Amino acid sequence: MSSLSPLHTGIKLFVSIVSDTHIDCRHPVPALPKFRLRAAAKDAEKASPRMDAFITVGDTTSRGSEKNWQMVSQALKNRRPAEKMIFTVGNHDLWNDGGFDPALQNFLKYSEAITGAKREKPCFTEIINGYHFVFLGGDSDAGCEAQISDEQMNWFSDEMRKAGESGKPIFVFCHQSLNGRHGLPRTWDREERPDRAPDEGGIGARSDEVAAVLKKYKNVFYFSGHSHMGLGGENLFKKEGYSSFENEDGVWLINLPSLACGNHHGEERAMGIGVVLEVYDDRVVIRPRNTTTNRWIKNVAINNGKPYLESIIE
Ligand SMILES: [Fe+2]
Repeated sequence: MSSLSPLHTGIKLFVSIVSDTHIDCRHPVPALPKFRLRAAAKDAEKASPRMDAFITVGDTTSRGSEKNWQMVSQALKNRRPAEKMIFTVGNHDLWNDGGFDPALQNFLKYSEAITGAKREKPCFTEIINGYHFVFLGGDSDAGCEAQISDEQMNWFSDEMRKAGESGKPIFVFCHQSLNGRHGLPRTWDREERPDRAPDEGGIGARSDEVAAVLKKYKNVFYFSGHSHMGLGGENLFKKEGYSSFENEDGVWLINLPSLACGNHHGEERAMGIGVVLEVYDDRVVIRPRNTTTNRWIKNVAINNGKPYLESIIE
């Protein structure tokens, strides 16, 4: 076990982030994804100083049914991993046997029931210690993509403008990555297929628009999950041209492995991997961590030969 404490002194924001826990009563062993989520919460709970937020980047459930959200609630029962808990909506959270609307209602209802924060839409902003966290999510049924309405797109532009005015780094969460990043569409599934459309596995039709908004601001970090790609760093980038941490015109794009499903393509494919976000006055650090074994992951070079990203704030 390695202690969950900041890399440097003077931390301003300390956050644990995991994705794709896929809790499901129809899982062959339903206790396993519950165990992974609970372990991640317990890992964060032991942090010193106390964490400001514990965030999932979507697909917290495999189907957004009441039963599955109750299992999420059980997994997190009596756990207080951070001052705030926040769920991003994923495509799987928006699927259930009753259709899109009941699934979205369950997401909103259980987000509030579990985290205590009222949610009215799948997109929302949280300001934590003065830092803007902007969450995007599909607001109508769109299969695997995130169907982002005109209304949400306008809202996003406006929220990013406000975040930009803060002069602080901005953190954006969307279950799906921008189209074609992190090796997509090759990395969309375990098996590579040459006939995949270029946008398969990405956010969908609004990808270019979302990217253009992100690139208007400095110090933007966009977190996604969705593809269940393992953790890949600089060596994977040299070899294959993609990784879990990509920089595009100054915007950092960070793709998380699945916490509780088998990962593929990455250099480190274990389950239990999340990242820890540390913000200081002059820099942002993002460190991969195995939240089940409570250890930092040190065998994957993420940036400049180090096993983590360290980005100096401009
Ligand atoms: Fe997923």
